[in-house]
Amino acid sequence: MKIGFVGKGGSGKSSMSWLFSHVLAQSGTPVLAIDADHNMDLTSNLGVDESDLPTMLSTHSIFREIVGLKNGDVWGDLVRDETRPKPSFTINPPDYYTEAVRTNVCENLDLINVGLGSEEALYLARCSHGNSAPLKFYLPFLAEDEAAVIVDGVAGTDMMNFGLYAGIDALVCVVEPHRNSVKVFELIKSVAERTNIPVFAILNKPSTNEFHTLMREKYANQVIGEIPLDVAVQDLTANTLASQTQNAVHAIWNRLKEIIPKTDHKKRLADIVALKS
Ligand SMILES: Nc1ncnc2c1ncn2[C@@H]1O[C@H](COP(=O)(O)OP(=O)(O)O)[C@@H](O)[C@H]1O
Ligand SMILES: [Mg+2]
Repeated sequence: MKIGFVGKGGSGKSSMSWLFSHVLAQSGTPVLAIDADHNMDLTSNLGVDESDLPTMLSTHSIFREIVGLKNGDVWGDLVRDETRPKPSFTINPPDYYTEAVRTNVCENLDLINVGLGSEEALYLARCSHGNSAPLKFYLPFLAEDEAAVIVDGVAGTDMMNFGLYAGIDALVCVVEPHRNSVKVFELIKSVAERTNIPVFAILNKPSTNEFHTLMREKYANQVIGEIPLDVAVQDLTANTLASQTQNAVHAIWNRLKEIIPKTDHKKRLADIVALKS
């Protein structure tokens, strides 16, 4: 299953990406964690040194070559031209490109960093959308089988209209019981619906207030669980996580497996590309 954590800045996306990656990997699920944010917090949360890490940015030309994009070809050609051979990416065992771009973190857990916050990105004329293009075209062609693919995204709705998430199964919006966090969830929900991507919410660090009630009542169909405030999440110590936190991760993951509809990711990508052109 492929999911993307989205939400307001500071709501807990990178923490949830770290948490779900570790808990699922510890219980034997192969995990591919993808750091798709400028801050590259997931990379540092996972204890990986970003300075000597391959990124989608540093392997941009390998990706274009593998998918058969020649100089002058635009990314959308990959889906617009039906005669073009389609790429195919795998996790276990990894295909050539995945092997080139991934970094092993620990048993069952690999990381791919898009490279948005890398030194190289700072001096490029290309914007972060252009730099995220390999991920946009990687995800729909990635057969994850039993693995978990977890994308830590940019805050807010940025990257959504760009179609970055065409290849995932669902967006999971991290929502704190706060007015502005709920507001961002509502924006994300409306953009996700427009591009036909299922969107759910997890309530992070819940406390009982009017915004918690609003999420529980008005958005009862979207809310799939709650993650408590846990010092081990803050301290990034996977071996001291409260059992309540670990159980919540498993329950949310199993619920997602049950409710996410089967999707033709390649068709969704083609639809989003067509919508934009
Ligand atoms: N469930 C949690 N328990 C304890 N601290 C949390 C939890 N979720 C997030 N945090 C803390 O909240 C802050 C913001 O989280 P972060 O994951 O960086 O947000 P985002 O990636 O959405 O900007 C961090 O200091 C993080 O440690
Ligand atoms: Mg973050």
